[in-house]
Amino acid sequence: MAPRAGRVLITEEALRARVAELGRAIARDYAAQGPILVGVLQGAFVFMADLIRAIPIDLTTDFIGVSSYAGGTTSSGEVRLVSDLSMSIEGRQVLIVEDIVDTGFTLAYLKRNLEARHPARVRVCVLVDKVESRQVALELDYVGFTLPNVYVVGYGLDHDGLFRNLPYIAELDGG
Ligand code: PRP
Repeated sequence: MAPRAGRVLITEEALRARVAELGRAIARDYAAQGPILVGVLQGAFVFMADLIRAIPIDLTTDFIGVSSYAGGTTSSGEVRLVSDLSMSIEGRQVLIVEDIVDTGFTLAYLKRNLEARHPARVRVCVLVDKVESRQVALELDYVGFTLPNVYVVGYGLDHDGLFRNLPYIAELDGG
């Protein structure tokens, strides 16, 4: 059976409400200096698009592309930079925007990589935290939802490139 989206774990309404709360918290915390939001391609682009519209302060955006899963459903632990930022982040408040943190390898790599560029500070906003799957210690500053160790798709999250366009987050059946 081809993999398909199964049980809905986070509805569209729940996503909307939580993204609005995250946006308010981020706006409060960054009122003094507008941040650069760095979306992690590809998965974070849907979350990022909604999140920036929930943050009513001056901000800029950029994207960084990394790859770790190489088409499978488990992390290889090897993270590669596929496409870099378009601007300098020196002296800036940087907020990494991720759709999901699983083993933590991707975010650990990204934090190290961005911190080496001498920003004022790097913080992290992640929509879904699969905390049970963590293999490296990570500090997450903003977390939308915590989920158990299940493979989820939708709202930017894919399986073999599919399902990113679902407006909710669902468990993958038959993956
Ligand atoms: C997913 C997700 C994170 C990473 C998290 O990306 O978007 O970047 O995996 O996993 P980790 O905590 O185990 O490192 P993926 O490599 O599937 O690419 P995509 O964003 O293009 O879907």
